Amino acid sequence: MDPLVGRRILVAVCGSIAAVKLPQLVSSLVQQGAQVRCVLSPRAEQFVSPLALASLSRQPCSLESHQWDPCQPRPLHIALAEWAELVVVAPLSATTLARLAHGLADTLLSSTILATQAPLLAAPAMNTAMWHGPVVQANWQTLCNWPRLLPMAPSRGLLACDSRGVGRLPDPELLVQGTRAALATGGVADLKGLRILCSAGPTWEFLDPVRCLTNPSSGRMGVAMALTASLRGAAVQLVHGPLSNVPASWLDPLDTCPVVSAAEMGAALAQHLPQVHGLVMAAAVADHSPVLTNAVKWPKDALPNPLPLRSTPDLAADLAARMRGEQWMLGFAAEHGLDRDRAREKLRRKGCDWIVLNPVGLAGRGFGNQPNGGVLLWADGREHGLASQDKAAMAGAIWSALAGTLHQFQRSGPRLGRT
Ligand code: CTP
Repeated sequence: MDPLVGRRILVAVCGSIAAVKLPQLVSSLVQQGAQVRCVLSPRAEQFVSPLALASLSRQPCSLESHQWDPCQPRPLHIALAEWAELVVVAPLSATTLARLAHGLADTLLSSTILATQAPLLAAPAMNTAMWHGPVVQANWQTLCNWPRLLPMAPSRGLLACDSRGVGRLPDPELLVQGTRAALATGGVADLKGLRILCSAGPTWEFLDPVRCLTNPSSGRMGVAMALTASLRGAAVQLVHGPLSNVPASWLDPLDTCPVVSAAEMGAALAQHLPQVHGLVMAAAVADHSPVLTNAVKWPKDALPNPLPLRSTPDLAADLAARMRGEQWMLGFAAEHGLDRDRAREKLRRKGCDWIVLNPVGLAGRGFGNQPNGGVLLWADGREHGLASQDKAAMAGAIWSALAGTLHQFQRSGPRLGRT
């Protein structure tokens, strides 16, 4: 079940030009099934219309002037603090950051956050020099030490002051994923300390400059695995083939290495493998590449027919043979229907520790932004069902099932290719 559905999310908006992105965030959360209320700092009202936020959230918006309204039966900051299952503070301004770091309950917004026991997702936005300033950084470190706080560091890009640098509020689409991660983990960065290598997307095996062999994978599932791990605290390196149907902002927090062919993907993964704790093989590597290739376009009539093909190397199996005993690998098995026997055979043959059995070929499931689902299979025979859901939600469900195991992972048997 998607952690957003039915959950009570309080969106706390501070005074920053980035507040203009908040209506989109509120609208997306509501469309994905969350209950949303907004609270605005005194300055926030100058940047974003409370009426817009109230209309999009279908709930009254709480303003500074409401705090000591004699019509309120209970102190408003306590009522909001107790209502929320998660507080998203975005954009978090330098002033409110300082208020929170020093416990100043002098606004409705800061007193609500100080009073809540709900987890917090904190997304600062400000000018680059302000963000890097020693006082702001010290306050940010104080906040990051709060229990149940998931930090979303600002992105790099063009700022309202016309400079380029770190300080932008992450895109609403990315904030939605942060919200999902904070709800799934209760605000605990449960993958913190892990270094994870992920592969995603198809590969393209070129015959000539205008023709290639590939498959319809969009890369969305693999990027969702990488993004979700990063939001939950892991340091993630993503190696991806040509992507389609993946929101550009999903790549913002990731170290990315774009590749095209299976050979390039294998080389990039082998280079990064020694530095990581584990590998997620979500890429849909093309199974074959042409034996004959041409540097210029082949006239149609001159194309080799039949086309001689060779199998691409099995990257997962090759990488498993290079892994140290304490490194782990999660694979994905695309199967027609839920054929556990075939998926388990792949898990063994490729040296995976877990494999997600991913049914393909069902109407309305699988490729692009269609929902996904399946079963997570353990090498020791256990299994964990994955309901049909949005791919980002499914990535969260997979990490939730594995998080406890990953921190103390030690492989019991030998690796492929090792004695
Ligand atoms: N895989 C790989 N290298 C390949 C093919 C697949 O590393 N050349 C990896 C995928 O990233 C995935 C796993 O192997 O983690 C299973 O991929 P899948 O496409 O289900 O299986 P295949 O090995 O291609 O077998 P088949 O097409 O016969 O089902």
